[in-house]
Amino acid sequence: MSDILEIIKSRRTVKHFVPKFISWDKISRVIDAARHAPSSGNLQNWKFVVCWEPAQKEALAKAAYEEHEISMAGVLIVVCAEPEKVERYYGLRGERLYTVQNCAAAIQNMLLEAHSLGLGSCWIGAFDEDEVKTLLSIPAEARPQAIIAIGYSDEVAEKPPRYPLETLVYFSKWRSKSRDPAKYMNDVATILARKAESTQEMMKEAAGFVVDKAKEKAAETRGKKEAEKPSENL
Ligand SMILES: Cc1cc2nc3c(=O)[nH]c(=O)nc-3n(C[C@H](O)[C@H](O)[C@H](O)COP(=O)(O)O)c2cc1C
Repeated sequence: MSDILEIIKSRRTVKHFVPKFISWDKISRVIDAARHAPSSGNLQNWKFVVCWEPAQKEALAKAAYEEHEISMAGVLIVVCAEPEKVERYYGLRGERLYTVQNCAAAIQNMLLEAHSLGLGSCWIGAFDEDEVKTLLSIPAEARPQAIIAIGYSDEVAEKPPRYPLETLVYFSKWRSKSRDPAKYMNDVATILARKAESTQEMMKEAAGFVVDKAKEKAAETRGKKEAEKPSENL
């Protein structure tokens, strides 16, 4: 797999895992991907607690409101934020918004890297925060944002529906739609590419028509020649 859009589109939430060991090499690559995510002011106010012991995974699954299936994942990585670090620079907006966005960007990188390594993953946001903090001795100033379950998938998850692009995009202002975004944006390259494609289609159709006609003509000529041959009975 190499095309980034292909990786993005084929990633799925996986909740059923085969109990199989994941190498540290793979786990570290997943966390390394997180480390390269953008963050407000490049403050990188995140930490990753890697949990792989069965009893601890089970306790975390329980804290995630009894999502017991996730305890079968090879690892559960608890992504924690340090909001104060961002608040110092950006105030309340930093603490409340950037902190969450930073961790979300890191988490998405993790899910994509896991998928590219052939691993399934699940982003768990629903859990008892205090319980998770106690279980992992997370200090008061840090906040667990998500539990990321990573493991070898034991299911073929169906793709949940997505809204079509045109229902999500406005042009220049809220609710302003465009019939042809390429024209609206004066995107000559796209318009020319479309024209080239339709011309190619027309040429293909025309060539097919000519070939069919030539075949018909050849068959007709062959028929005439057969008819002109002297009969063997004479
Ligand atoms: C912020 C956030 C929190 C989520 N929390 C949970 C969760 O607690 N439990 C769960 O099973 N899935 C959770 N998910 C996964 C979503 O249910 C899943 O991404 C969504 O249904 C789309 O499916 P897909 O990931 O296969 O595209 C969460 C996803 C996000 C982004």
